[in-house]
Formats: sequence, C-alpha cells, structure tokens
Amino acid sequence: MPPSAKQAYFNQIAPLWDTFPSPEDTESRVRRLVQQITDVPVAGWILDAGCGTGILLPALLERHPCPSRILELDFALDMLRVNASKGIGRRRVRYACADVQRLPFRDASFALVACFGLFPHLADQQGALREFLRVLQPGGVVAIAHLMASHELNAFHAGVNGPVAGDYLPPADEVARRLAELGGTDIRASESPGLYLVRAARSRS
Ligand SMILES: C[S@@+](CC[C@H](N)C(=O)[O-])C[C@H]1O[C@@H](n2cnc3c(N)ncnc32)[C@H](O)[C@@H]1O
Repeated sequence: MPPSAKQAYFNQIAPLWDTFPSPEDTESRVRRLVQQITDVPVAGWILDAGCGTGILLPALLERHPCPSRILELDFALDMLRVNASKGIGRRRVRYACADVQRLPFRDASFALVACFGLFPHLADQQGALREFLRVLQPGGVVAIAHLMASHELNAFHAGVNGPVAGDYLPPADEVARRLAELGGTDIRASESPGLYLVRAARSRS
C-alpha cells in the first residue's frame, strides 16, 4: 500500500526530528512523565506507540529493569530506522512498523501502552483508543501524554502547514470520558501548561 500523506511527511522529517529545537529541560520532563505512567501493577511488554526516534526509550528502559521488553512501534519506517540506529537497549527492544489504529497484535499482549506525542495525528482516535485497550493485559495501563496542554498543542498545529495542519488533541477530560465509555477503569486525567496526561487501566475482570 502506498504511504499516506502523513506517513510520507513523518518519513521525510525523520532524519531531522532530533535536531528540531525543544526546551532545554525536555529530557528531565520526559523522565518525570515516564515515572508517572510506569507504575503499572502487571509485568510484561511495553508498547511505545508512535515512538518516533525513541525519545521515551532511555527512560522506559531505566524504569523497567530486565526482563521487561519494549516494542518501539511507528508507521513511519524512517523514524524507526533513526530510532534503531541508536542501538539503545539492544536485546530488550524490538521494532515494528504498523498503524496504531489497526494493531497487529493479539488481545492482552502488553502491560503498558505509552502513546506519547501521537494522539492528535490520528484520523480515527476512537479506534486507536479501542485498540490500545484491546491489546492491554487485564490490569495493564494506557497513557496518552504530551509535554503541552491541549490548547497549547492545538494552537501549534493551527499554525503549521502540510499534512499535520489542524491536527487536534481533545481536552484530557474528553479523552478520559471516551476511555470510560470503552470500558477503561481507574481513569485519571490532568492537564496544565506543559503537561497533558490521561491514563486508564484495562479491567481485571
Ligand atoms: C509528533 S511525532 C512524535 C514522535 C515521538 N513520540 C516523540 O515524541 O518524539 C508522531 C509520531 O507518530 C507517528 N504516527 C503518526 N500516526 C501514526 C499511526 N497512525 N500509527 C503509528 N504511528 C503513527 C509518526 O510517524 C511520528 O513518528
């Protein structure tokens, strides 16, 4: 299948992704965020959905000592190439090129789904939430996260051109409500300038 306009866009910017300017404290904020999403009561594989060049990977590896493993997943092959070329984590990390809206995994495959910096780019956000919950083990956790509040990120996407122009991140409360409708439990949602986090667990029953 030919790549979609968005896939082509992310493939094109992949070699430049790590050079784009970001606030100086991004690394420490990513570490703090990862601490908030990794207190998962079950053990198993972690899915880093829309992983890009692997910004979460060092913190995920640090927080989840052996033997837990991480699947770096993105639909842009060139993002995965840059990510894999760093060689971070080696034997504990695998890479998969797939669309999060149709995940090629069995039910209950993961203990944690981390969806960082991805959600506004999805055409079928409801379908993706359903997929995230489906692939979670009972008791597993999905986290939708950004280092911006929704109004900040939406203002940014309103000002760019190309395939991601106007991409929309719903308010955290709205995503929490949708996760609840889909059967998510223990739902927590918060957003403030510089942080957006919604997390939900898959019911144990
Ligand atoms: C804004 S970038 C964020 C990358 C990384 N999470 C970060 O924060 O640096 C969004 C990423 O999601 C990927 N992506 C977008 N839509 C996707 C989809 N439907 N399935 C899988 N990956 C997708 C893009 O290729 C890109 O790498």
